[in-house]
Amino acid sequence: MKTLTALSVLLLALCAGARHPQVRRHGWMSPTKESSESSSSSLQSSSRSFTTLTKEYPYYHSSKELLEEARRLVSGCKSAALRTIQEGDVSMDVVQMNSTRSAQAARNKVFILFGEHSRELISPETGLALLRELCEGSSELSREVRQDSEFLLVLNGNPRSRPEVEGGDYCLRTNPKGVDLNRNWDEEWQKDSVSHGEATNPGPAPFSEPETRLLRSLVSEYKPTTYLCVHSGTLGLYMPWAFDQVHAADRNQKAMMSVLEELDRSHCQCPYGAAGKEVGYSCPGTSLDWIYDKLQTPFAFAFEIYVGNGQMAMLKEKWRQKAHASSALQINHLANARPDFFKAHPSDFIQVSNTEVAESKNSRDCFELYNPASEDVFHATVNNWVTAYLEMAQKVSKHLQDGKGA
Ligand SMILES: *[C@@H]1O[C@H](CO)[C@@H](O)[C@H](O)[C@H]1NC(C)=O
Ligand SMILES: [Zn+2]
Repeated sequence: MKTLTALSVLLLALCAGARHPQVRRHGWMSPTKESSESSSSSLQSSSRSFTTLTKEYPYYHSSKELLEEARRLVSGCKSAALRTIQEGDVSMDVVQMNSTRSAQAARNKVFILFGEHSRELISPETGLALLRELCEGSSELSREVRQDSEFLLVLNGNPRSRPEVEGGDYCLRTNPKGVDLNRNWDEEWQKDSVSHGEATNPGPAPFSEPETRLLRSLVSEYKPTTYLCVHSGTLGLYMPWAFDQVHAADRNQKAMMSVLEELDRSHCQCPYGAAGKEVGYSCPGTSLDWIYDKLQTPFAFAFEIYVGNGQMAMLKEKWRQKAHASSALQINHLANARPDFFKAHPSDFIQVSNTEVAESKNSRDCFELYNPASEDVFHATVNNWVTAYLEMAQKVSKHLQDGKGA
């Protein structure tokens, strides 16, 4: 099993490499190291020595380690299974975890997408930690959530680009074709969303990419009651619309907003509300909008969970000043109140000037902008968001039970 996994990871990496020879190579992806990788990967269970990422930041997981740990957790986890879905040379690992009550008893079906942008490595780490808590945690909260909610988790939503990031290309956001997977969904899809820079290239057509097609089938079949995609590069808790800078989505607005407001207070103290409106830029072609609209998912969210390079403290301090200066009701209109602030700290989900960061600065700056670069901050971030995801599931479940927002 391990041998097969290692081989398929290697083959995937080699296929991606063969098709995109222009893409920068680092670390174990370089030709000289590939031969040593292929001879030893079938013998060793850890790929530690082969990725720049796990050498430089050993508390992060390589793709292979993510999968191995997910497989280990699932094998000892009640009502959970791991499967791989595939189109062509793209495969995605999916963890499904049913309620610990009977399958029908779960009121809340939670679909969470991690790692859609490959450089946002902290996102999949929170996903893995969530899986660990759901399978092995003993808190009252995780026990309750396991009864009332079920989960479908995609830990690595950009599996072909991630090995490049692990090889040290910490600025890579798109898939190997240079397409931003979070602009490629058929909801207000716009050809010219590329105007914000190469990193938001929407692709030649909606669902032109195998990654988004795989996710579309998966989520359509699952029919979640809660959808969440997890990003980093700023802090923000968002609901639809992302494409529309003016309006929050109508359907179930109050219930979604109240979940965000409560999570914001205890886990983020950051901007929250309608994505496009909060950030002041429109963001067409997102999974958030498509899933909310096309699948009529009751609760659809996108979280931005980390920003580095000293921006976190500044962001929180400004939020605090603003929160004190305005009534609670006005917090939802932060972006309108001070557009300059959001120009200085644009959301990665919206992606404007972070493109410039990615292109003009070095790989190290990218890593630290999107991901914790110290072990303490890493663990604090992961713990905070695992609890936030669990509380999200718990709160949505309560809303659904009360018959509101369904
Ligand atoms: C979870 O529930 C689905 C739908 O009832 C079922 O098809 C699947 O086999 C279940 N998976 C596990 C691991 O129990
Ligand atoms: Zn992102």
